Amino acid sequence: MQTVNIGLFGFGVVGEGIYHVLQQKPQLGVRIQRIVIKHPEKNRNAPSVLFSTDANTILQDADIALVVELIDDADAAFDIALHALRSGKSVISANKKMIAAHLPILVETARAHEVSFLYEAAVCGSVPVIRNLEEYFDNDLITHITGIVNGSTNFILTHMHKKSIPYSTALQQAQEKGYAESNPALDVEGWDAANKIRIACVHAFGAYVDAKCILVKGITAISDFDIQYAKEKGYVIKLIATCSVDADGVLTEISVLPTFIPRYHPLRLTNDAFNGILIGGQLTDEQFLYGKGAGRYPTASAVLSDISAYTYQYRYAYKKGIQKVHEVRDVKATCYIRFQPQSAPDFSQIGEVHEYYRTAKAHVVIVTGSLQAIVSACAGNHISLIRFPEPVAAQWKTLESLQEEAVYVS
Ligand SMILES: NC(=O)c1ccc[n+]([C@@H]2O[C@H](COP(=O)([O-])OP(=O)(O)OC[C@H]3O[C@@H](n4cnc5c(N)ncnc54)[C@H](OP(=O)(O)O)[C@@H]3O)[C@@H](O)[C@H]2O)c1
Repeated sequence: MQTVNIGLFGFGVVGEGIYHVLQQKPQLGVRIQRIVIKHPEKNRNAPSVLFSTDANTILQDADIALVVELIDDADAAFDIALHALRSGKSVISANKKMIAAHLPILVETARAHEVSFLYEAAVCGSVPVIRNLEEYFDNDLITHITGIVNGSTNFILTHMHKKSIPYSTALQQAQEKGYAESNPALDVEGWDAANKIRIACVHAFGAYVDAKCILVKGITAISDFDIQYAKEKGYVIKLIATCSVDADGVLTEISVLPTFIPRYHPLRLTNDAFNGILIGGQLTDEQFLYGKGAGRYPTASAVLSDISAYTYQYRYAYKKGIQKVHEVRDVKATCYIRFQPQSAPDFSQIGEVHEYYRTAKAHVVIVTGSLQAIVSACAGNHISLIRFPEPVAAQWKTLESLQEEAVYVS
């Protein structure tokens, strides 16, 4: 067996994880030849001879055919990945921000140089979303992908619900446990999830959607009042990333939105820092992928799977193409909106207002209308927006009845 020589960029949570995994599995025939990091003064849990701060020690080393890029700087990661691909080296990356922003040029460059560009770890860590979309769901029959793709926000919402604690306390606990960054903006404002669903949308539908077409609302405005409302109605609140097409295969939605999840829904089982993805198909109804979306070894496991795929020259085929999409059709949705009256738009201009509550603490409307119009009216931290579980409610009712059926059969 021929040894695979790897050049590793980054020795942080994931980089050190993959280093240890490969150390413990010499039978894989994979050797880390060089590790490039940023701060040479840090103590490293590996021989110092391996480390350098000079990217060229990897990029110009003819013995290294595979670059594993695991750094936390998206701009530097893009330079590294592009340079490596142009040098005829295959690249594995976990950097969803970088991949979401630059996918077409990276794929084009990898194709031109006949090398692999793989990134399973970038979408839901250890959960094999990309390879499943590429291989098993490589037909035109997928109708939607919907799920929880960000562990930090799921941890925060789970703890707000279960322990009845405010957002700020739950965020602090997520940071203490290492589930959220000290600057958690990318996670809590929904952009990390948006990057992941943007990448998944390419593999599901062949659509590379302009970032400005993604409807994004994070969880920063969710309060204990909203959690209490959800509890009274039998819901939990989850940050849900979705992309879907209509019967003609035209993209109708790509979004990241707080959503009420009813009883018996599979995503209700996805708690704490876990991820869960439902892939809907015309023939399959829905299938559920569940697992750890982050963390040292779960993420290293996805990188390891890509390394193994590289050894048999695996490349994503992008069978549905990579069409640039600058416009997405709209869907009708029903949403709960909590607001301060002095700073709120006139919701009756946006859709049909079914209910309007006013308490000493909050004003709430339930509105049905264009999802694009509702999300754009609810920008900012002073308005809480939570979507009701439509339009796939029919499927969820089926699940509920299936549950009853299962009880009946047993
Ligand atoms: N952590 C997870 O659970 C997880 C899950 C999925 C995907 N990811 C993705 O995986 C990547 C790595 O995440 P991480 O959590 O391992 O990050 P991390 O713990 O913050 O480590 C980042 C590493 O990158 C190095 N670095 C930063 N800029 C560099 C540069 N210009 N050149 C060379 N090295 C540089 C740092 O060097 P120093 O050590 O010298 O500071 C550090 O070793 C990110 O793209 C992240 O989004 C992470």
